[in-house]
Amino acid sequence: MPVPAGPEGGAVPRHVAIIMDGNGRWAKARRLPRIAGHKQGVEAVRRVATAARELGIEVLTLYAFSSENWRRPEEEVRDLMGLLRFFLKNELKDLIAEGVRLRVIGDYHALSSDLVAMIDDAIARTAGNGGSTLVIALNYGAQAEILAAARRLAAAAKAGEIEPDAIDEAMFDDALTTHGLPPLDLLIRTSGEQRLSNFLLWQAAYAELLFVDTLWPDFDGTALAAAVAQFGQRQRRFGGL
Ligand code: FPP
Repeated sequence: MPVPAGPEGGAVPRHVAIIMDGNGRWAKARRLPRIAGHKQGVEAVRRVATAARELGIEVLTLYAFSSENWRRPEEEVRDLMGLLRFFLKNELKDLIAEGVRLRVIGDYHALSSDLVAMIDDAIARTAGNGGSTLVIALNYGAQAEILAAARRLAAAAKAGEIEPDAIDEAMFDDALTTHGLPPLDLLIRTSGEQRLSNFLLWQAAYAELLFVDTLWPDFDGTALAAAVAQFGQRQRRFGGL
């Protein structure tokens, strides 16, 4: 499939993932509680999701809550869950209107039952949408995802359903929670940190990595367009020359 040209004439990534980092530092710099940074983070999610659609990005995957984030103080976890509730309640009609399909990766069934019901409802009501896909990673950890896929394939092999030798990259891809999505092209992390923090470790094998200093609450459509332009300038060789 031909890749459309971006604002600078380079290729537009089909699948972009973002580690949204720096909410706490944004709040601290303003002597505000951390929740204020997360609230602005939700505003950034809205702006960036809209900008991604306008830029022609097919899939936007956002790391909203990692399986390690449970280690944060109880109050902050509660605040983050409250913001997720707020986001789902307020964004669902726009997602439906704009033809966006919602997917969630990660073990979101460990969240409170009302949130699980809201998520399942949002997934079901947007399942028929084909415009673009918004993937939210909730209680997600890449190592756990890879282990779950390995266990599933091992069980299928033990049951005689597949031959161990037939397990290849495509079959493994299919066993991951991101099955069916286009390959990850660009992975962005905001706030100057340069780590993957257990996000999309398998999927990032050939992704371009971009670390930007901007704190997540300050990230916007212009910043995303700049990231896409940088992506368009990269030479992707996938191991070739
Ligand atoms: C990292 O900033 C951010 C998070 C752990 C949470 C990201 C969540 C949101 C942007 C809001 C909820 C999202 C949705 C989709 C409703 P940090 O707190 O680690 O910042 P710091 O490193 O500066 O302390």
